[in-house]
Amino acid sequence: MKAIILVGGEGTRLRPLTYSVVKPMVPVVNRPFIEHVILKLAAHGINDIVLAMGYKPDSIFAYFKDGAGAGIKLSYSLEEKPLGTAGAVKNAGGHVEDTFFVLNGDTFSDIDYTEMLAFHRRNRALATIALSYVDDPTRFGVVETDKSGRVKAFIEKPTRDRVTSNWINAGVYILQPSVLGCIPDNQFFMFEKGVFPPLLERGERVFGYAVKSYWIDMGRPSQYHQLNCDVLRGLCSSPLYSVKDITIEQRCSVHPSARITGPAIINNGCNIAEDAVIIGPAVIGSNCIIGKGAVIENSVLWDDIIVGAGASITGSIIASGAKIEENARLEDLTVNQDAPSDPITKKI
Ligand code: GDD
Ligand code: MG
Repeated sequence: MKAIILVGGEGTRLRPLTYSVVKPMVPVVNRPFIEHVILKLAAHGINDIVLAMGYKPDSIFAYFKDGAGAGIKLSYSLEEKPLGTAGAVKNAGGHVEDTFFVLNGDTFSDIDYTEMLAFHRRNRALATIALSYVDDPTRFGVVETDKSGRVKAFIEKPTRDRVTSNWINAGVYILQPSVLGCIPDNQFFMFEKGVFPPLLERGERVFGYAVKSYWIDMGRPSQYHQLNCDVLRGLCSSPLYSVKDITIEQRCSVHPSARITGPAIINNGCNIAEDAVIIGPAVIGSNCIIGKGAVIENSVLWDDIIVGAGASITGSIIASGAKIEENARLEDLTVNQDAPSDPITKKI
């Protein structure tokens, strides 16, 4: 079965953390975010994956080439200009002849795709929208359903006074191919405004599938940080990570006086000096050097980072290549290596 994953548009980067690394490639417990998503789909037999993106994604090509694992067909659909969520699917859809999935490429969940598909078929739905329950729906598409799960209204990013439900669009759809007929070719078009509301007005069979398991939109640094911690803690699952208190990969040197409290993962080639302290949840990428007596707590470090002696990093995200000075104190920050004029940025 086919899935089109949307990874283009305006928000392709996890600003202000990174300008050069595209969102699908940001590491979650040391593996590209999108690799987790693809392998989760494949585990449900959804193994014909199209990444719909805005421009030539060199880093993605270089990493995946034309495969993401045994039995997974991976292809790319490029847009000359952003076509919006629906326009991008139309552009990528080609000759879709069967029911297919669409995913917003910045959401991560434990959705049971097999069960969602059975729900879609049982309801003979034209479109099924996965729904997640959130405390603040104003940042999302709010979806109202009746008791049978049939969608009555879809309101994208409502003001607070227009919020009528805490169930929101989780950014995972199952669509019948005929939905592509509602989307013009080569034109900016959004599911959230141009497709779902008109389908509802026409009384089409659109259903909401309530997701009770884990769901997050990792499109902001604080949520990206949260996702890393949640995977480490086993609050959500990934085929790329087996929950373990402490994982230390190859070629690491950990001084006997260093203290590590899980959950923590330390990638290849790291050097943890004497008296360094790592307090989970903590993710440390490859080839990092953690100096003498440095403390890393509740933080996500990417690759090739040098943390000076006595520095302390708490609740932060540090992008690759950063050099943290001796005795520096970093709390709730994102450190961005690819905008030198803006080396240490906002609170996460
Ligand atoms: N290829 C392509 N082209 N992808 C796009 C485009 C485009 O023009 N525009 C957006 N996307 C992709 C983004 O890369 C992202 O993965 C996804 O579509 C959703 O876009 P966001 O910009 O992250 O939207 P949002 O988070 O504000 O809102 C959307 O997601 C919410 C769930 O997280 C909406 O679908 C909401 O209704 C929904 O609740
Ligand atoms: Mg988003």
